[in-house]
Amino acid sequence: MPLLTGQVILITGASSGIGEATARRLARKGARVVLTARRQKRLDALAHEIDPTDTNVLALAGDITIDADRRRWVDETLAKFGRIDGLVNNAGYGTRGPVEIVPVDAVRLNFETNVFSLLALTQLVLPHLRERGDGCIVNIGSVAGKIARPLSSIYDSTKHALEALTDGLRGELKPFGVRVSLIRPGFIITEFVEAANAASDPIMENAGPYAPYLSGFRLGYDKLRLVAGHPNDIARLVEIALTSDNPAPRYSAPFHAKFFLFLRWLLPKRMLEWVTRLKT
Ligand SMILES: NC(=O)c1ccc[n+]([C@@H]2O[C@H](COP(=O)([O-])OP(=O)(O)OC[C@H]3O[C@@H](n4cnc5c(N)ncnc54)[C@H](OP(=O)(O)O)[C@@H]3O)[C@@H](O)[C@H]2O)c1
Repeated sequence: MPLLTGQVILITGASSGIGEATARRLARKGARVVLTARRQKRLDALAHEIDPTDTNVLALAGDITIDADRRRWVDETLAKFGRIDGLVNNAGYGTRGPVEIVPVDAVRLNFETNVFSLLALTQLVLPHLRERGDGCIVNIGSVAGKIARPLSSIYDSTKHALEALTDGLRGELKPFGVRVSLIRPGFIITEFVEAANAASDPIMENAGPYAPYLSGFRLGYDKLRLVAGHPNDIARLVEIALTSDNPAPRYSAPFHAKFFLFLRWLLPKRMLEWVTRLKT
């Protein structure tokens, strides 16, 4: 079983939520962590908390959708630590809105962040793992990667794409000793909803004939809060995936995530449609 001690793990989206909790947890277990996200102050504060001597942590601000930033993250990681052992592809956000109305540019940006940039960063990290014949990639997907809902299908389709990408990558890298897993969080209390609202409010404000359904959609999230998980629930799974010789293709948490995935497997498609239908 690979130990985390001394391993260099690059984490995207480390300025809040799941990425931040993952960084803390992995660092506690002895990993050297590279923190990336756009908000520099948040990263610097977390880096200082994790290791005030700056020996085992590196905070690199940048936007994952910018090619030069992704390259700088990898180059500076190698310059400081000389190696990369793992990549936690966690940065992401959700664009919502009726398919009829959501601007295609907003769709593109959501795919650019959650899928294309994740893929491009993975391409930069992979040669270092593959050539050493060791290493691990953990993608943060979502239950939404298996269950798409009305008014959420843009975000949900980015996570569906990540499911396929993960499976292909896992098979491609197996002969080279590089492990790949995907984690499907359910609803976790983070800044995700705030970020989704910031991206989606301008769309939702112009929802026209779909407007009567928005409150039902938001109510669904309010109900989910009652069973929501903590970022640590997911950080724990990241640790399990990184430290397993043969990690599972998928992990999910908390309990309601497993339950929804079970329902998806169990229920006929039409019944699932009824469960996820628009409500006023
Ligand atoms: N919370 C949930 O219920 C839930 C459920 C299923 C899946 N997930 C997935 O979990 C992952 C983490 O989300 P979270 O819940 O922890 O939400 P969060 O608190 O909003 O964290 C998202 C992270 O992504 C970073 N990020 C977003 N856009 C970026 C960009 N263009 N460049 C660089 N970094 C960027 C943010 O940092 P900056 O803003 O500082 O750049 C932040 O650190 C996401 O992939 C999300 O889809 C979350």
